[in-house]
Amino acid sequence: MSHLGIVIPAAGEGQRLRPHTLVRPKVMLEVAGKPIIGHIVDRLKELKPEVICVVVPPHDRTIKDYLQANFSLNFEFVVQPLPKGLADAVLCAEAAIRNLPMLVLLGDTILDVDLKALLNEESAIGVKEVADPRRFGVVKLQDGFVREVIEKPLQPVSNLAIVGVYFFAEPGPVFAALHRLIREKRMVKNEFQFTDALQIMADAGRKIKPIEIANWYDCGTPQALIETNRALLKALGRQGVAVSGEHSLLIFPVHIARDAVIENSIIGPFVSVSSGARIINSVVADALVYENAVIEKAVVSQGIVGENAEVRGKGEMVNIGPGERVVLG
Ligand code: G1P
Repeated sequence: MSHLGIVIPAAGEGQRLRPHTLVRPKVMLEVAGKPIIGHIVDRLKELKPEVICVVVPPHDRTIKDYLQANFSLNFEFVVQPLPKGLADAVLCAEAAIRNLPMLVLLGDTILDVDLKALLNEESAIGVKEVADPRRFGVVKLQDGFVREVIEKPLQPVSNLAIVGVYFFAEPGPVFAALHRLIREKRMVKNEFQFTDALQIMADAGRKIKPIEIANWYDCGTPQALIETNRALLKALGRQGVAVSGEHSLLIFPVHIARDAVIENSIIGPFVSVSSGARIINSVVADALVYENAVIEKAVVSQGIVGENAEVRGKGEMVNIGPGERVVLG
């Protein structure tokens, strides 16, 4: 076991992923055959942390039940009573982390990276150049270290977005900065921002090293989730495919839960079908079909079909004359 504590803030409301996040926590949304948080914890096993502190929303058992059933790691679950931002969430983990070197990995951030690259630094954050950084925290560097951090700027000072991974060999100064934000009631858009704590540390002369993250599978928006599903299925290839449906064609890569029903349909590529879903007489590509959803006589591409949702096509007769151009809705 290594001398490391990991914090996974998993209490976020996932507003950009509504309505799916109205019925389950964002980190429990499935992508490529398992909940987002499952992909994250898969990649943490090799670090052999002393503790993984998962910050969960109130009244939720699904995250705890899922992690305890699927991983034999030392988890501690702490509740963030109110959605008061990432800084508040990390502070909830203070007692669980004690004084261990601390890796913070956001519950919606799946990375393909050797996390050990961060663990060699005093303080480090993951960054990636993105075309439009306005949805992220953005950093400005000076002499190879972080000088300025701005949360979701309207006019970004650079294209370097903060990927949701942070490491601090000593957690003391981070928690001190977080306590200061709370004491001074420094909220932006009703939330305590973790970027403000980073700024306090940079201003105090702490060297925060930016580490370039090559493969970042963002799960923050429906579009990002669909793209992440595609990328992870591509990486998994044919693995994880349970059944091929009756009289159906599967175009790999796809992931289909064991108890999903597929009949007379073409599925794939890049489709994840969750437990209990039924796809009948349909064509589905590039999509996530959640638990117990039904798709019948329909064509679905580039989409998310929520749990217990139903999509039924009209299946009407068409009679299109020679040379006519018809766009079906
Ligand atoms: C959070 C952080 C932001 C970071 C982003 C990465 O924002 O506050 O600095 O760039 O995660 O996903 P959120 O996505 O929770 O709004």
